[in-house]
Amino acid sequence: MSLEQLLAWIPPGSPDEALARRVNFDQLPAHIAIIMDGNGRWAAQRHLPRVEGHRAGIDSVRDVVESSARLGIDVLTLYAFSVENWKRPRTEINTLMTLLKRYLRLELGTLLKNNIRFQVIGRGDELSPDVRHELEIGIRQTEANSGMLFNIALNYGGRAEIVDAARRVIAAGVCADDLDERKFGEFLYTAGQPDPDLLIRTSGEMRVSNFLLWQIAYSEIWVTETLWPDFRRRHLLEAVLAYQKRDRRYGGIKPSPIALGVK
Ligand code: FPP
Repeated sequence: MSLEQLLAWIPPGSPDEALARRVNFDQLPAHIAIIMDGNGRWAAQRHLPRVEGHRAGIDSVRDVVESSARLGIDVLTLYAFSVENWKRPRTEINTLMTLLKRYLRLELGTLLKNNIRFQVIGRGDELSPDVRHELEIGIRQTEANSGMLFNIALNYGGRAEIVDAARRVIAAGVCADDLDERKFGEFLYTAGQPDPDLLIRTSGEMRVSNFLLWQIAYSEIWVTETLWPDFRRRHLLEAVLAYQKRDRRYGGIKPSPIALGVK
């Protein structure tokens, strides 16, 4: 993606335009993962039921998915429902599933228009048949797209994913000597995808909440106080700009002449 293509979609003279012009398109994060948090607090601040926060959060999903695709991000992963979220009240769970189905139905056109491929990561087989049906339609209709991969983490848990991968390793008969980190990665839900370069969490919480535990080993983490229903393209661009200022070392040292002992 180029700056021109992104600007074609941003109102001229807006704060978003100024942010977009500062982005280095040669140094974009290949994979952005987002923990969408703060829907309940957003609703509480407005004296609304919690589910209204989730409803409003759909507008943020819509904005962030299209913004990421136009920016040129290869993979976007949104944490929509964790394996722990089943502990929430039944009505809240039902609303989340209904919102998800409606999102897929209404946004399929946008996904297709933006060449986005849609996929689910998590224990999908434990979801209800109507949800699975809607997900399968989205996956099938977008499978030939070659642009951004959009993962929705649904009934997802990082530890559950590692256990599932270990089970698959055993079922595939991989012998211990052949198993290394690269090989193990082939059995994760995200096989073949780059690890997240940038992990965003909204609503100010400093936790990773069982999200992509294996894959975020070297991710840069950016936390914003903004609650998810208020999160928009502007915040995404701010996160990318902050990421581009980070000094990523992967446990090594910065290769400066002094550090290397070069006179
Ligand atoms: C966290 O807020 C948010 C969730 C558990 C669900 C996020 C889901 C959506 C925005 C809708 C469906 C998603 C897609 C991808 C279509 P919280 O309820 O934990 O907020 P709180 O911490 O303020 O209570």
